Amino acid sequence: MEPPQAGQVVVIGSGLIGRSWAMVFAGGGFKVKLYDVVQQQITSALEYIRKEMKELEKSGMLKGTLNAEKQLSLISGCMDLKTAVDGAMFIQECTPEKLELKKKIFGQLDLIVNNDVILSSSTSTLLPTKLFTGLKHVKQCIVSHPVNPPYYVPLVELVPHPETEPSTVDKTYALMKKIGQSPVKLTKEIDGFVLNRLQYAVISEAWRLVGEGVVSPADLDLVMSHGLGMRYAFIGPLETMHLNAEGMTNYCERYREGMIHVLKTFGPVPDFSGEIEQQISQAMSERTPADPEHLNARRAWRDECLMGLAKLKKQMKSN
Ligand code: NAI
Repeated sequence: MEPPQAGQVVVIGSGLIGRSWAMVFAGGGFKVKLYDVVQQQITSALEYIRKEMKELEKSGMLKGTLNAEKQLSLISGCMDLKTAVDGAMFIQECTPEKLELKKKIFGQLDLIVNNDVILSSSTSTLLPTKLFTGLKHVKQCIVSHPVNPPYYVPLVELVPHPETEPSTVDKTYALMKKIGQSPVKLTKEIDGFVLNRLQYAVISEAWRLVGEGVVSPADLDLVMSHGLGMRYAFIGPLETMHLNAEGMTNYCERYREGMIHVLKTFGPVPDFSGEIEQQISQAMSERTPADPEHLNARRAWRDECLMGLAKLKKQMKSN
């Protein structure tokens, strides 16, 4: 069995995303300090992680080469920021999506960290210039945006601040690869990063199609889950083009005009409210009532599917 990795990681905020990051880093063999301002959150995160890791081990889906007990021994809780970051080489911030709160935390970190540690944020929407501008250690700062749940969905978007040093991006990229995630580098910040820009493009056309009465909400979702999504789990939209003709150039020759014609018929940005919202909400609630019990059951089923898909992708050597 391999020994634990040198270097310690700090996860700030032990909620949904923080606890998942802790598991991913421990899977990679790193010591993890889980810091939070609420003791109960740390306690429940450690309990959750123990239960999850044991189940993952049973099902053969535990990440890394260390067994569950060994990985669990790498994770500890901490309620003192200074103690938590002492000796850390990487800090992953996972606090609620509030700009002022995150700025305050990075401001506190800025005062106590050395010149080597990487300061990374899980933010899904806040741009690096909003989070990090003015920090003394700005060149060590980066956004590492995961996808929920990070344990099964490995993508991480790396988004630098204009003053982030290239070595910060490279080191974060290497670390993410080492712990089994799939990092992608953005060369500059942009609203929505890449994942949410793609996601919102799909959501807005889905909304318009249902709103115009072209297709029912349930059938719209089937187009993705039984159609496009089947191949998108293995190849992206650009490779799809390449394979769906005799290469990309041939695809463009064949479909350029058709694509442009269809794209010009797309409507304006929806307001995601009113009658269409009610219609879609009702349709979604028919399958999964919007109460915690039903939503959690459906989420557990989704995570089981994602775990199966992750297994299949591993078997198929899909990356
Ligand atoms: P959450 O609400 O589940 O957890 C936040 C945690 O931060 C809580 O444990 C809370 O006690 C703690 N916290 C609050 N103030 C703190 C402070 N000053 N210092 C330390 N800890 C503090 O939030 P969640 O969903 O885990 O989101 C965390 C971050 O991850 C957000 O920036 C979010 O945008 C991002 N993210 C969330 C995704 C999701 O699907 N939930 C997906 C990708 C990124």
